[in-house]
Amino acid sequence: MSLKKTWFGRKKRIDSPEQLMHGQIPQHVAVIMDGNGRWASKRGLPRVAGHHSGMKNVKKITIAADELGIKILTLYAFSTENWKRPKDEVDYIMGLPVEFFPLEIEELVQKNVHIRMTGWKEGVPPHTLEAVENAIERTRHNTGLILNFAFNYGSRKEMTEALRGIARDVKQGVLDPEQIDEQEYAKRLKTSDLPDPDLLIRTSGELRISNFMLWQLAYTELFFTDLYWPEFTEGHFYEAIYEYQQRIRRYGGL
Ligand code: IPE
Ligand code: IPE
Ligand code: MG
Repeated sequence: MSLKKTWFGRKKRIDSPEQLMHGQIPQHVAVIMDGNGRWASKRGLPRVAGHHSGMKNVKKITIAADELGIKILTLYAFSTENWKRPKDEVDYIMGLPVEFFPLEIEELVQKNVHIRMTGWKEGVPPHTLEAVENAIERTRHNTGLILNFAFNYGSRKEMTEALRGIARDVKQGVLDPEQIDEQEYAKRLKTSDLPDPDLLIRTSGELRISNFMLWQLAYTELFFTDLYWPEFTEGHFYEAIYEYQQRIRRYGGL
């Protein structure tokens, strides 16, 4: 097995998932799927071609995650800040679920994948919501990998809403301020029934979180790669898992 030195440190080339089976497989992996636009521009293509190519990559990584025994794969697909983009681009992205789900749903159903959505419906066009809701409905009883799309999701909005709910309950006298603890707060987040991500992967070389799960990432292991999302393969995904397996998670302890 060849070891190669990269800017990122020592990396092992992982050719097959079997090589990862001796280490711990993360339960919940989250991915900030970034760099679609730059991937396209680099090829002289319009930015939306990058979104299309990025969409194509989702199934590959989903199947790779499932085969490794990962339980939850959260994919950040559209942020509450992405509405700031030109309307044409936003419209194109909103059309992607309409194309993606009918195309991939049979295979996802067959693989027992359970589709979920974390985000707000407000502002999302009806045809997009319909595609998403059909996919959720089709996979409602599936017990395999949870494929969770963070779509029209933003962490500050999520946390602010949780806070508002707490304030309301206190005002109505159903919650004593002394009862407010981390659990009370976390159960009001959209991810209340999911464990925190064990590993966060961000593609495209940006070293930031971009309003993604700020509370939930408190002790998540972070993995950044320069690769753009459309060029991030199963092999790169395995490398991220391998890197995760080398980390020592201390949670503040020793
Ligand atoms: C990620 O790719 C997809 C979304 C944010 C919807 P980008 O569209 O951000 O691509 P870059 O970062 O501009 O290259
Ligand atoms: C983060 O990417 C959001 C998604 C990948 C959906 P952005 O491209 O929106 O993030 P910034 O603007 O570079 O921080
Ligand atoms: Mg981006």
